[in-house]
Amino acid sequence: MAYDPNSQSNLDEVKTSHIHLNLAVDFVAKTLAGSAELDIEAITDNVSKLILDTSFIAIHSVTLNGAPLKYTLADRHEKYGSALTIELGKALAKGDKAKVVIAYATTEECTACQWLEPSQTAGKKHPYLFTQCQAIHARSLVPCQDSPSVKLTYSANINAPLRAVMSAVPTGEEKQANGTTTYKFHQKTRMPSYLIALAVGNLEGREIGPRSTVWTEPEVIEAAAWEFVDTESFIRTGEELLTPYDWGRYDLLVLPASFPYGGMENPCLTFVTPSLLAGDRSLVDVVAHEIAHSWMGNLVTTENWEHFWLNEGFTVFVERKILGRMQGKEHAEFSAIIGHKAMVESVEIYGEDHPFTALRPCLRGEDPDDAFSSIPYEKGFNLLYYLEKHLGGPEVFEPYVRAHVQEFAGRSINTDDWKAFLYSFMEKNHGQEKVDLLNKVDWEAWLAGTGMPPVENKFDDTLAKACNCLCKKWDHSRTVEKPTEFSPKDIEEFSPTQKVVFLERVSELDSLPHSHLELMDQTYGLTQVRNAEIKFRWHMICLKANYEKMYPEVAEFASTMGRMKFCRSLLRALYLAKNGAELARETFKKHRSFYHPIAATMIAKDLGLAK
Ligand code: BES
Ligand code: ZN
Repeated sequence: MAYDPNSQSNLDEVKTSHIHLNLAVDFVAKTLAGSAELDIEAITDNVSKLILDTSFIAIHSVTLNGAPLKYTLADRHEKYGSALTIELGKALAKGDKAKVVIAYATTEECTACQWLEPSQTAGKKHPYLFTQCQAIHARSLVPCQDSPSVKLTYSANINAPLRAVMSAVPTGEEKQANGTTTYKFHQKTRMPSYLIALAVGNLEGREIGPRSTVWTEPEVIEAAAWEFVDTESFIRTGEELLTPYDWGRYDLLVLPASFPYGGMENPCLTFVTPSLLAGDRSLVDVVAHEIAHSWMGNLVTTENWEHFWLNEGFTVFVERKILGRMQGKEHAEFSAIIGHKAMVESVEIYGEDHPFTALRPCLRGEDPDDAFSSIPYEKGFNLLYYLEKHLGGPEVFEPYVRAHVQEFAGRSINTDDWKAFLYSFMEKNHGQEKVDLLNKVDWEAWLAGTGMPPVENKFDDTLAKACNCLCKKWDHSRTVEKPTEFSPKDIEEFSPTQKVVFLERVSELDSLPHSHLELMDQTYGLTQVRNAEIKFRWHMICLKANYEKMYPEVAEFASTMGRMKFCRSLLRALYLAKNGAELARETFKKHRSFYHPIAATMIAKDLGLAK
């Protein structure tokens, strides 16, 4: 029976098989208003009520076959919202179906939606709306069973004054007399509620592959079409590794700068941050990552957020397989080295005994957003990487990963389901020898242990060598007042990712003198860099060194880039830096409306402005 500590729905009694949305987008009131029609089915006998998750939603009426139903909206649970209990009138027997229609509107406090003023977009002329539902924000957009254990299809009619796109296939548009248009969508593959997604704005599409269009504001369409040319090759490589791509279309939507994540794997339409538009195609591994979710997460889904690593750890594993096949193994290993550093930092921030540093944390009473970090990604990846090696390499493990997808596609699973199938696959295909190897794994330490993983994997450091070497040179120069051995040539041959790793190594040193940082900046032009990943590492080095001259640059970057990996980390580091706390808080307060509600909440907590 599905267990989900972060949902208030009666998941053990009912399941939703389809949702149809009829919504009008109102940019003046900043609301979505209309109805949600839920096709539900009783999964046990004597089901007299339907309990749905809602958060900051205004309910107008609930009907069944046109007849009104009684309902109550409970007092708000601080983290999980207000349970909506609907009396079904006549109790349902197991297998009985019903269509419940809820007339409702979102409110100003909706945490899934960000409503942008024209001034906050690239084109500055039109407003923009986008949603972000993972992990538990779908309930602020639609009353639903907001648990990844429930998988459903959906359809939608969205009435809007500007183009609407969704995590589904478009099925038509109808012009209305008042000048608005109704955009229609259908998602035929069953998926969890956190993958419902909508964006509305001045959008233009450009074809970039046989099943792919990139959508952006017209101002960035050229840059986006150029950056993401490799999309189809990523999908093909995923198909070679796993199973045929199941979702029909794979489109990309490049969002305005306030999008809080690097990418979000909304089916048929991945959402990405505009910070990927580096102009050198160096950050497209995020697209490979979101494509990998088409199997890991979107087809095979975690049952609840305690097993989030099954989504993200597996996705990172497949992402690096795709990268390895397309660019060579050393690139995949280089990515693992960067990931390892991110994990070390997450463990440092939480503290090595913190429960959220476990691969499978307990989330009863917790907000999944608080447990979000690199740990499920990288500890999960490291577990799979270790298992692959331990069990005999890719020849043994890659067929297993494909079988895992075939076994669980369309389902929601937990860590026990995962482990049981791993054992049964190895036993069936390779016999006792592999079972013996599996029995040698310290499962308790991997799954329940806090802090760093119990086994340290060794990654090929071919591409890291030059970065480490240059970092050592800077370290050794610290006693010299004016070092003369550095020149722009040092990094001329570096790829953008090597520049990132060089700066990461520097950030691990005891801080260099400010005069050295100034020299490094002059020599390598770091403050001028456009690539957000490089800029971010440079800013982190400066903050760690309390290099106050750079604080205004940091404030500028952190208030114009809403991807939490950057703005949240920088504001937190600025807050902790000498004489930085005030500027961090002021910057956040001044630009609060720039940030997506999810980012604003997290940053407010980091800066001690909320609990
Ligand atoms: N699904 C995640 C983003 C997410 C996770 C949103 C949890 C809300 C709650 C997405 O696939 C992701 O992992 N994005 C990363 C990409 C990176 C690992 C390549 C990001 O945003 O940085
Ligand atoms: Zn992901």
